[in-house]
Amino acid sequence: MAKNTAQRGGFGGKLTAILAAAGSAIGLGNIWRFPYITSEHGGGAFIFIYLGCILLLGLPLLIAEFAVGHNSKCNPIDAFSKIRKGWGWLGAMGLISVFLIMGYYFVISGWTLNYAIASATETIGDDFGGFFTSFTTATWMPLLFTYIFIIANHLIIVGGVQGGIERASKVLMPLLFAILIVLAVYSLWLPEGREALGEVFTPDFSKVTGKTFLDAMGQAFFTLSVGMGAMLIYGSYFKEGTKIAGTAISVVSLDTLVAIIAAVIIFSAGVQNESGMQLAFVAMPKVFSAMPAGNIWAMLFFLLLGLAALSSTISMHEAVTSYFVEKRGMSRNKGALIVTVGAMLLATVASLSLGAWSGFTVAGMNIFALLDNFTAIVMLPLLGILTSIFVGWIWRKEDMRAELTAQGSVDKATYPFVRFLLKWVCPVLVSTLFIFGIIDFIKSL
Ligand code: PHE
Repeated sequence: MAKNTAQRGGFGGKLTAILAAAGSAIGLGNIWRFPYITSEHGGGAFIFIYLGCILLLGLPLLIAEFAVGHNSKCNPIDAFSKIRKGWGWLGAMGLISVFLIMGYYFVISGWTLNYAIASATETIGDDFGGFFTSFTTATWMPLLFTYIFIIANHLIIVGGVQGGIERASKVLMPLLFAILIVLAVYSLWLPEGREALGEVFTPDFSKVTGKTFLDAMGQAFFTLSVGMGAMLIYGSYFKEGTKIAGTAISVVSLDTLVAIIAAVIIFSAGVQNESGMQLAFVAMPKVFSAMPAGNIWAMLFFLLLGLAALSSTISMHEAVTSYFVEKRGMSRNKGALIVTVGAMLLATVASLSLGAWSGFTVAGMNIFALLDNFTAIVMLPLLGILTSIFVGWIWRKEDMRAELTAQGSVDKATYPFVRFLLKWVCPVLVSTLFIFGIIDFIKSL
C-alpha cells in the first residue's frame, strides 16, 4: 500500500493546480502535432471532429482521471487498487505508456533547444531540410541537447510538488502564453494570417475519412495527457474542495485555445502542405528566415515549443517518480534519479534510431517511430477504454458520485451527464474507433 501518504506534497491553490495541469496538457502535441495533423486532414473539418472528440471523450476521461487521483491521493498504481482491489495493473499500463512516450518526446524536446540557439545565432543556413536531417541523424549533438532537457526535468522534479512542479508552472506557463500571444498578434497582423484564420475554420468535409476520426481521437487523448497517470498524479495533489469538473474544463479550454492559436500561427506562415516533423523544424525556420528580424521570431517560436515541452515532460516524469517513491519507498531524489536515468537510456536509443541505428526496424519502423505509433495507436485508445470502464462500471456508483460532486455539494447538474459519457459513450465509441484503427494499421504494414 502507499507509503509516505502522510507527507505527500500538494498544489497550494486552485489556480496553480490549473496551471500545472494545463502545463501537462499543453505541449508538443498542441504546437507541433496539432497543426500538421489538421493540415493533413484538410483543416476546418478536422477541427470540427477533433472538438467533438475533446468534448465527448477527452473531457470526461480527464475528469475521470482527476477524480481517481484526487479520491485516492496516491500514485497511479495504488490509486486504482485502492478504489477496487486487483486493478493496479491499469495504473501500471499507464505508467509504462508514459515512459515509452518520454523516450521520443525528450528527443524532440532536445531539438527545440538546439533550434532556439541555432535560430538566435543564425547558424541554420539556407538549407533547412539539410540542417534538420544532418542534425537529427547525428550521434552526439541531439543526445547532448536531449540530456540537457532531461536534467532540467530532473532538477524540477527533485524540487518537489510545490517547490519544483508548481514553481516551474508558475514561471513557464505565463511565459508560454506571452510568447504565444506575441507570435499570434504578429501573424494576424500579416494578411496571410487573417486568411489562415479562415482556412482553419472553414470545414471541407470532402476530406473526411475513417482515419480522420481516429487521428482526431488519438490527438484528443494525447493533447489532454489522459490515461497515462500524469493527470491522475496531478489530481492527487489537488486540494480538498477543488472542483474536479471545473478544473478539467479550464484545462481543456486552455489546451484547445493554444492548439488553435498554434495552428493559426503556423498556417499563416503558409506551410500547411508540409507534414510531420518537417512542419515545425523545416518549414517554420524557412518562413521566419524571410521575415524581418526572422531569427528573433524563430527563436521565440522554438522557445515556445521548448517551454511547452518542459511543462509536459515534468508531469510524465512525476507520474513515474511517484511510483518509485510511494510504492517502492524510495526517497524522492532516488526515485527521480531512476526515472531520469531510465529516460536517458530510452531517449538515447530513440535518438540513435534516427541515425546510427536506423538500420534496425520493426515492421518497417525505427524505434523512434515505433514508440510514437505504438503508444498513440494501441496504448492510448486502450487506456481510454479501460479507464472509462473502470470509472463507469467498476467504481462504486455512490463513491464516484461523492467524489465528483464533493459529497453532493458541487456539480450536481453536470454529474449525470459525465457519468453517461463515461459509462456508455467513451467505451463504445473508443472501442469502435480502436478496432477500425488496428485493422487500418495492420493493412498499412
Ligand atoms: N499532452 C502533452 C502534449 O500535448 C503530452 C503528454 C502526454 C503529456 C502524456 C503528459 C502525458 O504534448
